[in-house]
Amino acid sequence: MNIVTCTAPVNIAVIKYWGKRNEALILPINDSISASLDVAQLCAKTTVMSCPTFDSDRIWLNGREESIDNERLQSCIRNIKRQGTLSTGMEKWKVHICSINNFPTAAGLASSAAGYACLSTALAKLYKVNNDISAIARTGSGSACRSVFGGFVRWYMGVDAEGTDSIAKQIVPASHWPEMRIIILVVDDLRKKISSAIGMQRSVQTSELLRYRAEHCVPKRIEEMHQAIIHKNFEKFAELTIKDSNQMHAVCLDTYPPCSYLTDVSHAISDLIHAYNNAVHSTKVAYTNDAGPNTVLYLLEKNVPEIVGVLQHFFPPGNDQNIDYIRGNLPSGIIPSKN
Ligand code: DP6
Repeated sequence: MNIVTCTAPVNIAVIKYWGKRNEALILPINDSISASLDVAQLCAKTTVMSCPTFDSDRIWLNGREESIDNERLQSCIRNIKRQGTLSTGMEKWKVHICSINNFPTAAGLASSAAGYACLSTALAKLYKVNNDISAIARTGSGSACRSVFGGFVRWYMGVDAEGTDSIAKQIVPASHWPEMRIIILVVDDLRKKISSAIGMQRSVQTSELLRYRAEHCVPKRIEEMHQAIIHKNFEKFAELTIKDSNQMHAVCLDTYPPCSYLTDVSHAISDLIHAYNNAVHSTKVAYTNDAGPNTVLYLLEKNVPEIVGVLQHFFPPGNDQNIDYIRGNLPSGIIPSKN
């Protein structure tokens, strides 16, 4: 029997991926940038086993067996088996997969990103794949390619029709900007109504703003963000993060029928952050939302106590708008097991 265990981090985009040019290969219409979060706090952990006596591939998610006949899962497993360099008959052994998340699934916290990054890395080790793992993770879920690395990561959209150059690369490790912190405000941990995959497909089909964004806004913004990270320019980083999140949600509303992921509480949080930044005459906190109501704040360590105080004052425990806080750092990336 062969066994491999890996953990992989959740990543939160600061320049968003929203829209595919090729649905089957999961090729995006623009580059995106994210930071991977502390694996100890928010991660997927996956164990893969292959054995000559297993008679079928099987998967368990958070302790419950799920169907393996999921198109994306199949494509990921197929890709890895095809690229594997095992040659002793072991490549034909069936595989059992057990994956757990330690955070609310499908609440806009990119559970599929950590999950597919982890699965791809574990399977790639099991089948001895030497090719780019981010490209394999991408075929499970686009944003998963960024969770293959720690620190700040850029997914290059690529130009190749087959997607061979649509891969993620680390911009800098987390140690480059050790003062960076995140606070996740869990507004609602229920499953989102419209999945990212459906939402972005609908945006590609109907939103003129999405086309404008991909052609005229993101190309400039992505380079500015890349430089802001390299030069640790927090004000610029924060401004771009906020603008890009708001533009993605503007695209969602420009979509027909519209996808609205934010709630009154999400909007109240962004209003509060703007009021705070305005009061201190500096952009000390950035907020961003993925395809769900939960808000992620990026800020520097020295400002955490004050911001937490402000949040607790305006959203006190026991209030109707009660929100949970998860605090974290930026970590190092995927941790493979010893075996
Ligand atoms: C809003 O990677 O979940 O989080 O490729 O269809 O699986 P699929 O979509 P997914 O989309 C994530 C979109 C986002 C923004 C981002 O992470 O860049």
